[in-house]
Amino acid sequence: MQIDTLILGAGAAGMMCAAHAGGRVVCVDHARAPGEKIRISGGGRCNFTNLHCGPEAFLSRNPHFCKSALSRYTQWDFIDLVDRHGIAWHEKTLGQLFCDGKATQIVDLLRGLMAAAGAELWLGTEVVEVGRDGGLFKARLRREGRNVSVSARNLVLATGGKSIPKMGASGLAYDIARQFGLELTETRPALVPFTFSDKRFAPLAGVAVPVRAEAGTGRFEEAMLFTHRGLSGPAMLQISSYWREGEEIAIDLTGGRAVQAALRAARGERGRVNLATELARHLPQRLVEALPGMMGADLAGKLADQSDARLAALCNGLADWRLKPTGTEGYRTAEVTLGGVDTDGLSSKTMEARTCPGLYVIGEAVDVTGWLGGYNFQWAWASGMAAARAIAEAGRDGSAAG
Ligand code: FDA
Repeated sequence: MQIDTLILGAGAAGMMCAAHAGGRVVCVDHARAPGEKIRISGGGRCNFTNLHCGPEAFLSRNPHFCKSALSRYTQWDFIDLVDRHGIAWHEKTLGQLFCDGKATQIVDLLRGLMAAAGAELWLGTEVVEVGRDGGLFKARLRREGRNVSVSARNLVLATGGKSIPKMGASGLAYDIARQFGLELTETRPALVPFTFSDKRFAPLAGVAVPVRAEAGTGRFEEAMLFTHRGLSGPAMLQISSYWREGEEIAIDLTGGRAVQAALRAARGERGRVNLATELARHLPQRLVEALPGMMGADLAGKLADQSDARLAALCNGLADWRLKPTGTEGYRTAEVTLGGVDTDGLSSKTMEARTCPGLYVIGEAVDVTGWLGGYNFQWAWASGMAAARAIAEAGRDGSAAG
């Protein structure tokens, strides 16, 4: 069977590309349903983009690479698409946009666009082998127990990264990219909780606190959550993308709030109150109770007993709590994969491989990783659209497949 474009992976990027590439398109996926990560994202409501999306929110060996695609298909373009299809949404926090209803509305939107464009969706389809012969890509697929051979002028790698193997994540895009001469950067789990081998935070599991957190060059002000195995919550997921094994993370438990000034003022107004009681007005009670064991904080005595120096020492300790995580929860729970197909080998305008015409890599498979907050979907939409436009343009110039 001969088609124009074969897209491997019916996730966010693959479906976006399939819906807009034009010509005869087949989008294959080994899963039973398309867009499974969209379905489970954002707690089932899909944080589909971010109002503040810009290149600074992305990590890559080449931080400039994402600029072209992001500027040619912006968050406003996707919001417009969502609006035109009557999907209600709201901003939750920090520019993060979520569906009012279910995330499946986004999957249905993309499926609808694909159907309207005549793009075929082959689910339950395994990719057995891909090669290239006479300028055409040749794929051997196994669809519902039958072998199918497909020839295509364009091959789009959209099978995502390695996170959550249970949901069908695989290294297929990386393997095929390498097969066609593209390089890979180091891949690692990102947007992932930290673990501590001694499970020291287990007694605090469930406690959340707004913090400032830092690792490497990453610095975020968001909530942190103590878990049975370590530290999670948006602040920790964000800095996990910047952290490397053996390094410290720095946490400001006051989250930049003026706790020291507040304690000093309280000392003047209600000196007979215990320091620990007063501190619990600023931090969760269970966290306050754990502070002496956790960081050697001295919370003994009444407010009136505290010198300026003691309050300063306490607050400086809270503001610069340093820890060395043992590791992370890994790909089992990571929201994304950091790294991927090296952008040096791709055109930033079209996502086409420089040395292999007709081969495109889009979405999470590329070495472009966004912050938490809708940025990764925006990259999937934008990179999928960049490839689709290039394919559509080439299709208009060339001949359609028979
Ligand atoms: P994606 O993973 O979406 O799709 C890849 C497709 O390829 C899948 O359908 C898969 O089945 C298929 N595939 C893989 N291997 C294959 C093989 N060997 N053969 C055939 N098919 C194969 N981002 C965000 O912006 N906002 C959010 O709210 C969230 N929330 C979120 C929650 C959770 C739990 C996770 C795990 C991730 C998120 N993300 C997110 C990240 C976001 O889901 C992710 O960045 C995008 O889905 C990436 O889109 P892609 O299309 O590149 O890959």
